[in-house]
Amino acid sequence: MFLREIKVLKEKIKKTNVYPFNIPALRNLSSLALNKNVTFFVGENGSGKSTLLEAIAYKCEFNVAGGSANNLYEVASSHADFGEYIRLSWMPKIKNGFFLRAESFYHFASYMDEMAEEEGGRVYDYYGGKSLHEQSHGESFLSLFTHRLGKQGIYLLDEPEAALSPARQLTFLSLIHQLQKDSQLIIATHSPILLGYPEAEIFQFDETSIRLVRYEDTSHYQITRRFLENRNFYLHELLDET
Ligand SMILES: Nc1ncnc2c1ncn2[C@@H]1O[C@H](COP(=O)(O)OP(=O)(O)OP(=O)(O)O)[C@@H](O)[C@H]1O
Ligand SMILES: [Mg+2]
Repeated sequence: MFLREIKVLKEKIKKTNVYPFNIPALRNLSSLALNKNVTFFVGENGSGKSTLLEAIAYKCEFNVAGGSANNLYEVASSHADFGEYIRLSWMPKIKNGFFLRAESFYHFASYMDEMAEEEGGRVYDYYGGKSLHEQSHGESFLSLFTHRLGKQGIYLLDEPEAALSPARQLTFLSLIHQLQKDSQLIIATHSPILLGYPEAEIFQFDETSIRLVRYEDTSHYQITRRFLENRNFYLHELLDET
């Protein structure tokens, strides 16, 4: 483990009615202690998971548009509003790693192509030997991680499942297991498959706070399970207009 605690600098917060402090889970957060190599952030849409993940990436000096500290490409909306309001505690400190979110993966792939043009194809060695644009979304995503195996780092991932079929999510589960031997992962996800990784801590963002939950107590697990077990019942309830 590298990152042990995220502390919110409460004294710096002046206004609580504007973004990002109008997000209840973040407004009420004092600190978050991390105890496992794999941490999941779950919660409803808009509950603040990406905002916190971006803030951590900002403090790691990773490009908040996605990428590592070395990947200095710009994306219009790359800023981290919460980043100035947190402090990270490390033991030991690590600089290697990256922040990746599904929506910026395309830009990351383009940037790697530009690097390869400038510096030769060796840049691709980390990413499966060829341009990420010549691989499908899921293929390129998995090759990125497969080629990171054995290298220590901290990986911040926002909804990695967006790139992956259910079968590849299972592949990614075993990759997570390999990666966490040397590295730390913090993953915001809605995937009931990824959340099933057993050695993880799951933090749920809700209307009042961020708290540790068991896998089986996440709404992601419960709703998916109930739907798969009683599909006809749900469809009847949802679609029946009379
Ligand atoms: N740059 C911004 N300016 C103002 N409000 C924002 C900004 N970015 C996000 N928000 C708002 O902050 C809240 C939290 O957004 P955030 O992206 O952190 O949610 P999330 O938990 O990642 O959601 P999802 O599961 O849909 O990805 C949302 O209500 C969102 O509309
Ligand atoms: Mg998000």
